[in-house]
Amino acid sequence: MSDIDDWDAVDPLWSAVDQLIELRLLNTDAALTGVIERCKSAGLPDIAVSPSQGKFLQMLAEVKGARRVLEIGTLGGYSTIHLARAVGAKGLVVSLESNVDYARIAEENIAAAGCKRQVDVRVGEALESLELLTGPFDMTFIDADKVNNIAYVEHAVRLSEKGALIVVDNAVRAGDVLDPQDESAIGTRALYEHLENHRRLEGTALQTVGDKGWDGMMILRVL
Ligand code: SAH
Ligand code: DHB
Ligand code: MG
Repeated sequence: MSDIDDWDAVDPLWSAVDQLIELRLLNTDAALTGVIERCKSAGLPDIAVSPSQGKFLQMLAEVKGARRVLEIGTLGGYSTIHLARAVGAKGLVVSLESNVDYARIAEENIAAAGCKRQVDVRVGEALESLELLTGPFDMTFIDADKVNNIAYVEHAVRLSEKGALIVVDNAVRAGDVLDPQDESAIGTRALYEHLENHRRLEGTALQTVGDKGWDGMMILRVL
């Protein structure tokens, strides 16, 4: 399908440009560097959003004026902290995580970053936690198991009002979303089909390259 075989292969030039972006546009942030280091030493998979993607999510939430944000897939809380910074002192981020060890590390990271009051990490299968949630949320970031992406988007719509934003990570996976055989991209591929002529959603997806390889995010708006 592509001459880049591994879906997460990184061209050194993409990383070098990410370094430029980090150096010139992202403030050096000891709290976030600490989060990355703690996640690494705890042996968490290296699948959090990149610094520039984290800032992008934070800015989307800020531009939206989001006060209540839902996140599906916490890992070590790296993206969570960006979203928590966006919602302001009285805001709330509810973040869903099935792995209890990851959730504990996330809570430590979130506390260390000074965002404890803004974040509620709920441990359990996201689909079960979602059943118990009431909205509305101004923004939802979907970044967990990809097989359930359609269900996650539909829950997000249920928990949204008109104008809410839904962002879906890993919308490209180095082109694997085009590959009907690819297990890990199949849910996202199905999501594209699900969104065609969706009554309550419109949006786009942006392809990205950088530290995380060739991937992208889907940006949806609730009608
Ligand atoms: N958003 C994070 C990265 C999330 S990685 C960041 O950018 O910093 C995906 C996370 O989803 C993992 O921690 C994984 O344990 C969690 N996850 C996978 N399947 C899940 C499920 N069914 N319910 C809840 N969480 C799930
Ligand atoms: C994987 C999951 C992610 O959410 C991501 O951003 C990168 C990789 C994974 O499961 O491999
Ligand atoms: Mg992801």
